[in-house]
Amino acid sequence: MRNLDRRKVLSLGVALGLVGAADPAKAWAWPSKDSVAGSGTGADPEYVWDGATDPLMVSLLQNGQVPAVNAAMAGWVNNGDALPSGLPAELAAHLRTVNKLPPWADPVKLARAADFNRRKDTYLFMLYGLGSGIMSTVIPREARSVYWSVGGADMKDRAAKTFTFGYDLSQLDAFKPTGQFVVTANKTRLVHGAVRHLLPQSPHWRAVTDQSVPISAADILVTFHSLGTFVRRRLLDWKVPMSAADQEAFLHSWQVALHLLGVPDEYIPKTWAAAEAQSAQVLTPILAPTPEGLDLAEVLLGLTAEIDLGVTRGFLNEFVRYVLSNEVGDWLKLPRDYAAAALVRTVWPAFILFREGLSPVMPGTFYMFDQFVRGLAMLFLNKGSSSTTTPITIPTGNRPT
Ligand code: HEM
Repeated sequence: MRNLDRRKVLSLGVALGLVGAADPAKAWAWPSKDSVAGSGTGADPEYVWDGATDPLMVSLLQNGQVPAVNAAMAGWVNNGDALPSGLPAELAAHLRTVNKLPPWADPVKLARAADFNRRKDTYLFMLYGLGSGIMSTVIPREARSVYWSVGGADMKDRAAKTFTFGYDLSQLDAFKPTGQFVVTANKTRLVHGAVRHLLPQSPHWRAVTDQSVPISAADILVTFHSLGTFVRRRLLDWKVPMSAADQEAFLHSWQVALHLLGVPDEYIPKTWAAAEAQSAQVLTPILAPTPEGLDLAEVLLGLTAEIDLGVTRGFLNEFVRYVLSNEVGDWLKLPRDYAAAALVRTVWPAFILFREGLSPVMPGTFYMFDQFVRGLAMLFLNKGSSSTTTPITIPTGNRPT
């Protein structure tokens, strides 16, 4: 996880609005007293995986039981659904333990988070899609594992499955019995467990990785910061109105999501200040381009450009540069379109102010920007333009080439 020198880390941290940047050469220094658990062992999450799930997945994969498990789980969708019949006893016992909210989950905050997600959905989907989604391609471990896992060969399908997670999280009843997020998070946890066993068998992944086993707790925290922490920071930068209660609720929904994904509570930040400190330590220093990430970014932006958002590919590239910095844009070799760049940089702030009722002046290109953000939101809401749920399934192999 040590890719950039300190000066570069600091300037990139500033450009991304991820305030401050810890010294990448330093060992794990984030205090567990700042976590939802309030204390912990202080062990480096770089070497923590998922002891409850991973051995189970090894045994299911080795015994050839995964296709039957996928078939049994296909109809298991709502949080309130009974566990499907036909699951191996150990898996059923495991799911009975983890398929529920943590005792510290606060239903009032979760309800507020759902309402916040609804109120701000256009910005959230845009930032998750074009900000976090493209940022994932400059997170080397994530880019390499996504590329070399089986899903990397069909990014349209994979993007649709990932949208399912964001979509289920953003529903009003996400955490209630009628919602689907708890089940989706549990399925994702199983997928990650399988990937930890499968990817080390890929000669391609082994040739490019710095890990023996992928998707550590630290890696999941990195991804959380590229999603939740980054999105909140940009909303603040853009002066999108958000009350303190909204922000706390938004964090809380992510805290619960991280718990459901199997991250131990001692690493889950208690406050946004603690999250930003952790992000400076784990996310900013590791950002870097990779051949796999370049390919994934091109595929993802190509898929987005296929949808009619009323803007050109040049606009899309410049929007990514605006949201993620020119440094990241250069890493991804996004061609410049200076006219679109000027438009984005001058009109976007005015667009937000007008849309949020903070300025009476409507920018001349308001409708173009509005179509753009609404189009991206629809892309999410339709889960990558497929109107039915794309089921999350446990993989049984890796990307062949
Ligand atoms: C699969 C979400 C962290 C690598 C998935 C899936 C979801 C998801 C929804 C299932 C969709 C699918 O099968 O394609 C998340 C979330 C994360 C997170 C919300 C953190 C907040 C990570 C990290 C890595 C990673 C840190 C690697 C460094 C993968 C891989 C797959 C996967 C390789 C399987 C792809 C396949 O074989 O099809 N993740 N993930 N994820 N995730 Fe994650």
